[in-house]
Amino acid sequence: MTSPRLPLRTERLVLRPHRESDAAWMHRVCSRPDVARHLLDDPWTAAMAREKNAERRRRTDLDGSSGSLNLVVEHQGVPVGDVLLWFTDREHRVAEMGWVLDPAHGGRGLASEAVGAVLGLAFDHYGVHRVAAQMDARNLASARLARRVGMRQEAHLRQDWWSKGEWTDTLVFGMLAGDRG
Ligand SMILES: CC(C)(COP(=O)(O)OP(=O)(O)OC[C@H]1O[C@@H](n2cnc3c(N)ncnc32)[C@H](O)[C@@H]1OP(=O)(O)O)[C@@H](O)C(=O)NCCC(=O)NCCS
Repeated sequence: MTSPRLPLRTERLVLRPHRESDAAWMHRVCSRPDVARHLLDDPWTAAMAREKNAERRRRTDLDGSSGSLNLVVEHQGVPVGDVLLWFTDREHRVAEMGWVLDPAHGGRGLASEAVGAVLGLAFDHYGVHRVAAQMDARNLASARLARRVGMRQEAHLRQDWWSKGEWTDTLVFGMLAGDRG
């Protein structure tokens, strides 16, 4: 499989690989307690942001050595979010996704537009069989996003994950290549 042609473009967005300069805005967004609340990580420190940025800059192709594609979402030339796609089973082309949007740009469908574009790439370019997304069951905005882009809720796992000092429930969403019309 050849590498996808990047950046991806949608009506309102450009999705491109991470650059070193992205560490600053990612730190600003991911250090916010309201953003990190339902994520696995604690709010990011500046050092964490640099580490995550270095990791993301290596993740430029799902079929590359990282088995992962991480893209910055830009709206009108400004970075507003981050979408992650990675193989959980490369041999059978099963993948998972994650997403973060700067709250300053929330509520306008930008995250859904970005996630929809990356799902399209996963199925149409990479020929992925299944894409899953998992989230803390209290993360209602994220669950609404998953539904909005056409993923189906497949499970509500009760207290399966110890996170930040408490047991948490997990929602599992999935989309199959065969679900798309
Ligand atoms: C999850 C997250 C990305 C959702 O952000 P969001 O702003 O709700 O998502 P979108 O940008 O797709 O916007 C959708 C909202 O805009 C509204 N909207 C307005 N114009 C729209 C348009 N043109 N198209 C689609 N939706 C539109 C929708 O109705 C929706 O609002 P609702 O959920 O109240 O119904 C964001 O809350 C976030 O980053 N959270 C922190 C990180 C996180 O938890 N990530 C997930 C880990 S699994």
